[in-house]
Amino acid sequence: MSKPYDPKDFYYRQAKKAGLRARSAFKIEEILRRHDLLPRGGAVLDLGAAPGGFLQILADAVGAQGVAVGVDLEEIRRIGKPWVKTAVVDLLAPDALAKIRALHAGPFDLVTSDMAPKTIGVKFTDEARSIELCRMALGVAEATLKRRGGFVTKIFMGGEFPGFKKEVAARFQEVHVVRPRATREHSYECYLVGTGFK
Ligand SMILES: C[S@@+](CC[C@H](N)C(=O)[O-])C[C@H]1O[C@@H](n2cnc3c(N)ncnc32)[C@H](O)[C@@H]1O
Repeated sequence: MSKPYDPKDFYYRQAKKAGLRARSAFKIEEILRRHDLLPRGGAVLDLGAAPGGFLQILADAVGAQGVAVGVDLEEIRRIGKPWVKTAVVDLLAPDALAKIRALHAGPFDLVTSDMAPKTIGVKFTDEARSIELCRMALGVAEATLKRRGGFVTKIFMGGEFPGFKKEVAARFQEVHVVRPRATREHSYECYLVGTGFK
């Protein structure tokens, strides 16, 4: 029998214990462990980064010689590491790329997106909004990645999934579908991982 929804589940409690801002930190940790995406001293851009769970893991992965940029509609509380830069950015706004480049002009080794729309409970509408954010993230990745860089985006397994996967596959040497262990049992989200940006 499937377990009832528990907002304070194992991963929530583990995140609290470890001082991580969101249980989703364990998702990016697993993705980084399974795929060689981010060199020490590298540059990473995290889209939809608030409250900062992914960003804490990414910042530790690049270390003090690297740079970790996080942007979100919401303000991201300071991580307290000088190589982490954050800003309030609406990825659907025309000035999004300019705001990101103002934080870090150089190309990135990895672009991650955990962006999710405010869901309204209507599957068709929620999926359409989610895929719009995925496409926006892919556009930003194309504009900012180094050659052979990596891309990670959260996506809902709906009707648009196969088409979007093809769009990623056209731009990266390999594309993988990852459902991290910290994903909630009933969630239909997964992550697309592109490696080897062409
Ligand atoms: C699931 S949360 C991200 C959690 C984050 N990865 C972490 O580990 O703390 C999704 C985020 O996407 C952001 N978001 C949604 N639409 C956005 C947009 N148009 N531009 C920027 N961020 C957006 C939301 O504000 C929200 O903070």
